[in-house]
Amino acid sequence: MSDPDEPQLEARLVEQEAFEPPESFVEQANLTDPGIYDEFEENWPECWEAAAELLEWESDWDEVLVDDDEPFYEWFVGGELNASYNCLDRHLDDRGDELAILWEGEPGETREFTYADLHREVNEFAAALREIGVEEDDVVTMYMPMIPELPVAMLACARIGAPHSVVFAGFSADALATRMNSSDSEYLVTCDGYYRRGDALDHLSKANDGLGGVDHDTTTVVVDRLGDDLDHDLADGQHDYHELVEAQEGAEVEPVTRDAEDMLFLMYTSGTTGQPKGVKHTTGGYLSYVSWTSQAVLDVKPDDTYWCAADIGWITGHSYIVYGPLALGTTSVMYEGTPDYPDKDRLWEIVDSYDVTQLYTAPTAIRAFMKWGAEYPGRHDLSSLRLLGTVGEPINPRAWKWYYTHIGGEECPIVDTWWQTETGGMMITTLPGIGTMKPGSAGPPLPGIDARVVDAEGEEVAAGEAGYVTVNRPWPGMLRTLYRNDERFISEYWEAYSDPEADEWVYFPEDGAKIDGDGYITILGRVDDVINVSGHRLGTMEIESAIVGVEGVAEAAAVGGDHDIKGEAVYAYVILEEGYEEGEEMHERIIEGVEDAIGPIARPEEVIFTPELPKTRSGKIMRRLLVDIANDDELGNTSTLRNPEVVEDIQRKVAGD
Ligand code: WTA
Repeated sequence: MSDPDEPQLEARLVEQEAFEPPESFVEQANLTDPGIYDEFEENWPECWEAAAELLEWESDWDEVLVDDDEPFYEWFVGGELNASYNCLDRHLDDRGDELAILWEGEPGETREFTYADLHREVNEFAAALREIGVEEDDVVTMYMPMIPELPVAMLACARIGAPHSVVFAGFSADALATRMNSSDSEYLVTCDGYYRRGDALDHLSKANDGLGGVDHDTTTVVVDRLGDDLDHDLADGQHDYHELVEAQEGAEVEPVTRDAEDMLFLMYTSGTTGQPKGVKHTTGGYLSYVSWTSQAVLDVKPDDTYWCAADIGWITGHSYIVYGPLALGTTSVMYEGTPDYPDKDRLWEIVDSYDVTQLYTAPTAIRAFMKWGAEYPGRHDLSSLRLLGTVGEPINPRAWKWYYTHIGGEECPIVDTWWQTETGGMMITTLPGIGTMKPGSAGPPLPGIDARVVDAEGEEVAAGEAGYVTVNRPWPGMLRTLYRNDERFISEYWEAYSDPEADEWVYFPEDGAKIDGDGYITILGRVDDVINVSGHRLGTMEIESAIVGVEGVAEAAAVGGDHDIKGEAVYAYVILEEGYEEGEEMHERIIEGVEDAIGPIARPEEVIFTPELPKTRSGKIMRRLLVDIANDDELGNTSTLRNPEVVEDIQRKVAGD
């Protein structure tokens, strides 16, 4: 876009702090009546029946919410349904020939699955899973990149009532093994490889390394993604996906009846302590909630070509590439590769060529687009877009306005959606046809959601003050527990603010926030030891234990420092054992150690060798100080330190002296 008024426009946008939903959007929006907030309030929890009614149930629920055993809430109790049936079968009559998944590989090939095609392949793979021994309630792990067989496998599992546990393909072999061991998962679906920036990556060797660390027998299915580019030799207990599916040609598998509260999937996520947490989501509440939020917030309609450019290996992809959009019968776009291959306009080329109507992505991507420049989107016709969304981390107003102008052409509302793996779906955001948008602020809680910003005692803070987010009422998409760890579920999420004696249960998401006079919530970031790198949650403890696992490392502290594109980046402060030398080789070994234990996303931006870490008198590492040092910020009070002299040393090192 070479608009002569551009500088003035930019100036106006920078000043403008509130934007009304564009008229053209409101005219066609799924929700336009602001009365919905009061309606949900007056009719809570029955208001959530509107979400459940978006689905087809085999038998209706008897009770909307059961709260006899808080915080183990149950939703739509007595109801029965199948998620795969809801995402596929029920669309066949009306939309069988419409596209369910429109996939583009990084090299440029396209694969299209109509609802009928997807239904066929899911049935065949469901039959194949049974054939290799998968039974109802067995956990099936998927370690796959963005290829169509991933949603096929998820829906095939849902069809036979086997919960899936998807492990992000960028995670390491060790991370795969930990998750399979933790869930006692005996089945793995993976693939030979995938494309990244033109190269075929070998994924199967990594999967096999991971299987080497699994402490029980496993059966593996391997999808051949690369064709002849990479040979894969299947070992005992490993099957070729395509052979399995061919052998089941035309098979039909009756969707298994699941109780609303039966587990649909597990998703591991990082927390304060080293072990990842297995977040459990259920069939009825989760599916209702992601369908409702897809419709209300993303404005999804069956005729859309909707694109969530996340990875299915994270919760965003589960909820808003697979389950929400498919339950609503729309077309969901999937792209395998990176946004800058072969050039930095790849995403805009996709939007242009498929006439994408909604785009949902992360602020980290938007900051990269901004850095690359407006000429890349400027090469394409993006006028098919109707709505834009962001998720995963706070978006700075400048990036928001760039997105609004250069991608949305000032015609698209932006929904800045705050939520978590644990919440299943969106919690805080404007409704795009109703709410004023304020760049940088996610917005008010969704109708029916009682999210607040409180102080350490749980009292709501005054407008403009910083506090902590809490959610003071249950919602259908909430996690039900941590897999086989009810105790940790309570201690992680409920202990901070609940008063069990008084029967008051408050969910604590561990995020800091501010609230303004209109009830708009601005998320400030995590308040626990979790770093948010490019919208991906990483536990500092996991990174630290990976570093300490490197020979020669005595102690390590990992913190998140500011980063222009990634939001946060990992800064690792490392103390070596005597006899080991600082330098290139040690640096490399530390990086490798982290990549092997977690994956390249956790790679430290900087490794700072130091003889000591700043500690309080009680021996706790002062992380806040390490963050300040990484950011080159003014340091807070250092007088409580046991070893204040170390601070200057570290500062000098970071400054590169
Ligand atoms: C952060 C991703 C600011 C937050 C769906 C949360 C956000 C964590 C936003 C969850 C947003 C997510 N604005 N921060 N719109 N959305 N976050 O589990 O710190 O991968 O706690 O779920 O991301 O990350 P998770």
